[in-house]
Amino acid sequence: MELKNDRFLRALARQPVDRTPVWMMRQAGRYLPEYRASRADAGSFMDLCRNHDLACEVTLQPLERYPLDAAILFSDILTIPDAMGLGLYFETGEGPKFRKPVRTPEAVAALSVPDAERDLGYVMKAVSTIRSALDGRVPLIGFSGSPWTLATYMVEGASSKDFRHVKTMLYDTPDTMHQLLDTLAQAVTDYLNAQIRAGAQAVQIFDTWGGVLSTPAYLEFSLRYMEQIVAGLERSQDGRKVPVILFTKNGGQWLEHIAGTGCDALGLDWTTELADARARVGHKVALQGNLDPNVLFAKPSAIRAEVARILDSYGTGPGHVFNLGHGISQFTDPQHVTAFMDALHELSPAYHAQ
Ligand code: CP3
Repeated sequence: MELKNDRFLRALARQPVDRTPVWMMRQAGRYLPEYRASRADAGSFMDLCRNHDLACEVTLQPLERYPLDAAILFSDILTIPDAMGLGLYFETGEGPKFRKPVRTPEAVAALSVPDAERDLGYVMKAVSTIRSALDGRVPLIGFSGSPWTLATYMVEGASSKDFRHVKTMLYDTPDTMHQLLDTLAQAVTDYLNAQIRAGAQAVQIFDTWGGVLSTPAYLEFSLRYMEQIVAGLERSQDGRKVPVILFTKNGGQWLEHIAGTGCDALGLDWTTELADARARVGHKVALQGNLDPNVLFAKPSAIRAEVARILDSYGTGPGHVFNLGHGISQFTDPQHVTAFMDALHELSPAYHAQ
């Protein structure tokens, strides 16, 4: 089936487009009243992820409101540790938690790689349901967490500010840490390949917490495993190479290393200037980003000024996918997203004039 809108895939391949494609991290979520209604119908957040019809419904909600150039699977990065039996649950207002955190060498050794088709079959069912519902309107992005980022949640047992337990494991017992990351890299590779078989047309790896590591620790404990995953990804059913985007939040100082993994694009948060990033790695990879999601709290004229500044920072020509530098906040006014889209659609064609 041919895509009706392939701007996003073209930009990832650094091919010319008529305007800068855009999608938003966490584009389906609590800032949308229609999401809150579907979530109430489903029960818990994980019930929503496990119900492929509802997961499909919420995936499409932001596309009904805004002229987005890609859909992203509605799911979560923590489905893998959940399938490993850690007992994921969400406490209202407190984020994710695990009943059985992984803190000892024995606990790490006891983990096994989930069978993606069997244990995470509900995710694959969501992917194929969304692909059919999209009917070629825009491409569908699949995703996973990076091994390091998954490990932070698994070892801490929850979100963390200081990463005390996971860093203790890393420095005290690096072999145990490597064993955990190795299991996770295998799990992520299988999981993304299953999403590709189910119909994902691009994949993103979220390394939300890579930026809390020192440079040598980042290279050894995060990047190395993402590189292994990139090398293990399969082609799609129709023989196409599926582009992969690596997003290390706060990873601005490691762009050359990240671009050297064989990935197709780098996701950037707002602390890295697109102009600098392009000068450093733009000959190798596409760049995705990087509006500070907090800009969306400001008035439409301020949003427009930031969109203009970011377009100007990347400059003319292909290879830019517009996005937020991190997930959209639940407190965002949906009308302000409209102002963001309007500004982008008005201003970006000038950067692609032949
Ligand atoms: O982008 C999308 O629209 C797809 C859906 C998506 C979700 N989580 C849905 C979600 C994606 C891509 C994620 C990725 C994710 N999940 C990451 C990496 C990206 C990032 O934000 O850094 C991380 C670290 C997680 C782990 C996670 N899941 C956290 C920390 C939380 C709580 C966050 C919060 O805002 O409360 C979740 C829950 C979650 N995942 C929600 C959504 C819409 C909110 C749950 C709800 O509806 O109650």
